[in-house]
Amino acid sequence: MSKKPENDLVVLVTGAATGIGAAIAETAIVRGHRVLLTDVDADAVHATARRLGDRAAAVPLDIRDPDGWGAAFDAAEARFGPVDVLINNAGIIHTGNTRDLSLKQHRDIVEVNLLGTMTGVCAALPRMTARGRGHIITICSMSSFLALPGYATYGGTKHAVRAFHHAVALEERHGPLDFTIIHPPSTRTKMLDQELADPTSAIAFAEKAATPQAVAKVVVDAIATKPVEVVFPVLAGRVQRLAGTLPLLIRWLMPLVEARGRRQRERLIRNGSVGLSTMAGRAE
Ligand SMILES: NC(=O)c1ccc[n+]([C@@H]2O[C@H](COP(=O)([O-])OP(=O)(O)OC[C@H]3O[C@@H](n4cnc5c(N)ncnc54)[C@H](O)[C@@H]3O)[C@@H](O)[C@H]2O)c1
Repeated sequence: MSKKPENDLVVLVTGAATGIGAAIAETAIVRGHRVLLTDVDADAVHATARRLGDRAAAVPLDIRDPDGWGAAFDAAEARFGPVDVLINNAGIIHTGNTRDLSLKQHRDIVEVNLLGTMTGVCAALPRMTARGRGHIITICSMSSFLALPGYATYGGTKHAVRAFHHAVALEERHGPLDFTIIHPPSTRTKMLDQELADPTSAIAFAEKAATPQAVAKVVVDAIATKPVEVVFPVLAGRVQRLAGTLPLLIRWLMPLVEARGRRQRERLIRNGSVGLSTMAGRAE
């Protein structure tokens, strides 16, 4: 059997109507892949796919819906062929401290970020294994290493997603599938706009935000190189990773980091940077 060219793969991306997911889809297409964009927002995902041309197609998918996953895999296969790469990207946040969010908001975050991602992996495993190939890429977060105020449930889901991802990868280590998990820094998307609007999320602005295109490049590179885990920027990522193992140190440092985040957030608002996501450029 002839081997499939590694620069023309069928990629399914969740949460691809906007933000990091849309940038991943665009970058993957520029590199020669064909992409099924999926998103809970049907109109937006169709509009994004139309903009990306005929190597893109769109299907509405709420990642919490197991039947929807089956339909999405079938749609990808009908249009482009079997899915080679699944990119679990969709995620949500409700900003605010734990006591200020409703129980429903806490549950929503868990259902989308954790259960939705798990549902996707469970849909992909039998299909990809039966085919003898497949690569599952999970977009996670630095908050999977470091517990932060204002991010209790969000960070909790990201810790759990990381544990789930690595455990499944270990279970499948003798099989044909590849697994990669990627932890982006704060990124200029609608999610970060939500955080900018809420002072309890100031900590997100302690670091310089990346563009969705910079994140997308790392993700699409990983399709070819198949790393096990990527944190970036590398140095800041390592520092945050280490800090996550030292909760007492974090308690001492938190006032400094929060003050820096508040200053940067206020500067962004003063400079009229509300709508950070609209400032991001297009894929290279
Ligand atoms: N933006 C950041 O600062 C940042 C940092 C680290 C990690 N991340 C992670 O990156 C991923 C993408 O984030 P983003 O910043 O592009 O967010 P975004 O809010 O800009 O886009 C998320 C997309 O997911 C879709 N979505 C929401 N719920 C869904 C569901 N149930 N099913 C399918 N699609 C759904 C939305 O419609 C939207 O199009 C998320 O997993 C997020 O946690 C983001």
